[in-house]
Amino acid sequence: MKSIKVGLLGIGTVGGGVFNVLKRNHDEILRRAGIGIEIAMVADLDTARATALVGPGVQVVADARAVIANPEIDIVVELIGGYGIARQLVLEAIEAGKHVVTANKALLAVHGTEIFSAAHRKGVMVAFEAAVAGGIPIIKSLREGLSANRIEWIAGIINGTTNFILSEMRDKGLDFDVVLKEAQRLGYAEADPTFDIEGVDAAHKAALMSAIAFGVPVQFDKAYIEGITRLAAQDIRYAEQLGYRIKLLGITKKTPKGIELRVHPTLVPNKRLIANVEGAMNAVMVHGDAVGTTLFYGKGAGSEPTASAVIA
Ligand code: HSE
Repeated sequence: MKSIKVGLLGIGTVGGGVFNVLKRNHDEILRRAGIGIEIAMVADLDTARATALVGPGVQVVADARAVIANPEIDIVVELIGGYGIARQLVLEAIEAGKHVVTANKALLAVHGTEIFSAAHRKGVMVAFEAAVAGGIPIIKSLREGLSANRIEWIAGIINGTTNFILSEMRDKGLDFDVVLKEAQRLGYAEADPTFDIEGVDAAHKAALMSAIAFGVPVQFDKAYIEGITRLAAQDIRYAEQLGYRIKLLGITKKTPKGIELRVHPTLVPNKRLIANVEGAMNAVMVHGDAVGTTLFYGKGAGSEPTASAVIA
């Protein structure tokens, strides 16, 4: 039987996870998809490391365009990150008639309109489950599971690094810089961690959820964004004394005046479920007119949780 052939652009933390999970769960995925999914080609600048990871059965190249040009490849998975070369390669892959999977929230938040309309013109899909809240299947839930609802609002902890920092500062009284270094060591933080701590990464994700929930273009440029860099240990302590936790929330809401899109530190009463989401975990609350409030919880970053969403 023919299998679906996938080309990976970039095999770092997430790409390595995708390769391992696809291999480990091959039979299970075949049973569910009805067809095998095979990584046939990998592009990475570090070809030696990539070859050591994937073994002899997979073609490894340094040039991502060789993957896009390969007529055997059905799906291109972009795991490079950033807006530069990643944008170019995604557009070229679409132009070549490939379906694209990306975990790149920054790219879609800023260039989503251009990318989605190119895909629409070519009749291919751009799938991005992994771009929002890592392993939590929130895109699928908004698109399908909650499709009967008018979504009224979404509020979520959608950046693991900042939630980890806030949790560790509160729990262990550690300093901001120490915890940020630990988040980087654990592979949660963005290549440029200012995207995490200034709320930009959460705003990328909130903008994507807002577009899906309310059927509007991706409007990251209109978001109000405030990160956690101006919070002191003292703020966290005072909040605690008053019965609150400080959480960096990404919020989007339909109001009579329009759609709100904002990211900022928020006082959450400590009895609320979402106030107890600790460490690098993510949680997204979605309120629909029929279903009421729902809460989705899980790992928002890391190799295999993100791989789970890429493969889905
Ligand atoms: N830097 C992101 C986070 C990674 O900390 O949540 C997952 O998008």
